[in-house]
Order: sequence, then structure tokens, then C-alpha cells
Amino acid sequence: MTQLVDTISEMRRWSQGARQRGDVVALVPTMGALHRGHLALVKRARQEAQRVVVSIFVNPLQFAPHEDWDRYPRQLANDMAALADEQVDVVFAPSVEEMYPQGDSLTRVSVASMAGALCGRTRPTHFDGVTTVVAKLFHIVQPDVAVFGEKDWQQLTIIRRMVSDLNFPVTVLGVPTVREPSGLALSSRNQYLSPEEHQRAGAIYQSLVRAKERYQQGERHRDRLIDLVRATLHEAGLTPEYVEIVDPGTLEACPASLPSSALLAVAVPVGRARLIDNMLLGQ
Ligand code: PAJ
Repeated sequence: MTQLVDTISEMRRWSQGARQRGDVVALVPTMGALHRGHLALVKRARQEAQRVVVSIFVNPLQFAPHEDWDRYPRQLANDMAALADEQVDVVFAPSVEEMYPQGDSLTRVSVASMAGALCGRTRPTHFDGVTTVVAKLFHIVQPDVAVFGEKDWQQLTIIRRMVSDLNFPVTVLGVPTVREPSGLALSSRNQYLSPEEHQRAGAIYQSLVRAKERYQQGERHRDRLIDLVRATLHEAGLTPEYVEIVDPGTLEACPASLPSSALLAVAVPVGRARLIDNMLLGQ
């Protein structure tokens, strides 16, 4: 049976018990409004560990004041049912007061330069909010394994670096992006799209695929690939916030002549949503 835990003390007690029994514990951090992408992470966690904890917490620290914290979808009953079907052991769903009893966390965990790249340009406080809450969740749940999606490649890369820099005893696993038949990456924020916007958003994946094909045909000119992505988005009436090609490990911009491994990453506003996606070029 899936247990709902909403206090830090009970979560710790459960985790200590599991560890004392010698069980490997996996954590899947989420903000809820779960879809098949999240469930792919849960299935991976199940393969890696005897005990699976899914956290559901819409973390105010990672939203800027003008962003969508208050209208972010909250559907705990549905989420609980989906996670029970996946035989998740514990859903950790604390309140904001439980996580931030002093109203804020004066302490921030910051993976400095990486947090300012890509999405960090327009969301300068976002990744510090993510790393701070994930560090808290790691201390509370004390997992052996934590699972994240490659859909948020920058987030995954930053968390890997935090774990390495701060010696968290946690193995971080990445899971490939789960997509709709159109190629659109599943996202809780897709709920913000009208049917027409939803259809146009399919061009995001198409633009990445086109660039990857061109790369595989030998195109190594960075700006030509970026122009191709922009043109494909433009045809669908979409104007990206950014289109960048970076080193997948450091998130630093690639030189104008591309190396054998690179990450193409985009952020695209569509209606009320801001959607992100990425694709590896080369290996
Ligand atoms: P959230 O957006 O709910 O995503 C939770 C996890 O699901 C993340 O690791 C994300 O990369 C993964 N995910 C989302 N859509 C996916 C898809 N289509 N395919 C594969 N994985 C997908 O990311 C967050 O929450 C928060 O920032 C969090 C890490 C929980 C910290 O608050």
C-alpha cells in the first residue's frame, strides 16, 4: 500500500527503518500533476531499489514572483492513485510551511555558472531554488538513488554536479524524455495549452529532429543548425526564447564549428506555457 507522508520527522523515521533493514531506497522528486514521463522515472526507480519514494512539492523557491507557482496544477488524489498503481511505497507531500517553517531558506545551494546558462538567463534564481530543495529532499529522504528526467537536461546536469561537489551519497540516474506521438515532450505545463497551441507545439520536436538529421548528414556549422531550428519554429508561428548548442556535460556554449558531441536545447513560449526541450547531437 502506498503511504502518504507529510511531515519531515515521519519521512526520516520511515527512511531510517528502510535503511536499517538493508533496503535500497530510491527517490523521484516531482512537483506532481503526474504524467507518463514522471511514471517512467518511477518505473526506473523500481528497477533500482526495493523501496521507492516519490516527493510531490510545488517548490516556491524555484518560481520567480511573476511565474506560475499559484496556478501550477495540483492533483494529489489523481497522483496518489497513479503512484499506487506503480507500487510506490511512500508519497512525501509536505506543505510549504513544513519545508520552509521560517518562511524562506536563507541558505541557498548554488551550482554557480551552470545555473546561469540556458534557462538561467531568463530565470536567474530558478536553479538555486531547485538545488536547494533537492538538497533538502536528499537530507530528509536519504535515498541511495535519485531519478531525474533528461527532458530537464540542465537540471539533471546541475544536480549531478551538486552531488559531486557536496559529496551526497546518492547515485543520480537520468531517464530519456517521454513524448506524445507528435513528439511533444510530456510536461505538466502542457495543461496550459489550447488544442491549437498543443498542435503547434509539436514543431518544437520537429525542429530538433531536423537539426539532428542535418548534423548526422555532416553539418557542423553551429549557427546554420540554430537558424534551421529557428526557421522550423517560425513556420509554426513560434518564436523561441533561446536556441543554443552547448557541451552536454558543462553546459558551456559550443564553438562555431561543432565537436562530435553536443546538446541542442530550446525554450519556446507557447500561449501561457514556456516549454523546453533538448536533443543530443552526435553520441
Ligand atoms: P517536475 O517538473 O514535476 O519533474 C519531475 C521529474 O520528472 C524531473 O526529473 C523531470 O525531468 C521529469 N520529467 C518531466 N517530464 C518528463 C518527460 N516528458 N520525460 C521524462 N522525464 C520527465 O523537475 C521538477 O519537477 C522540479 O524542478 C524538482 C526536481 C521536483 C524540484 O522541485
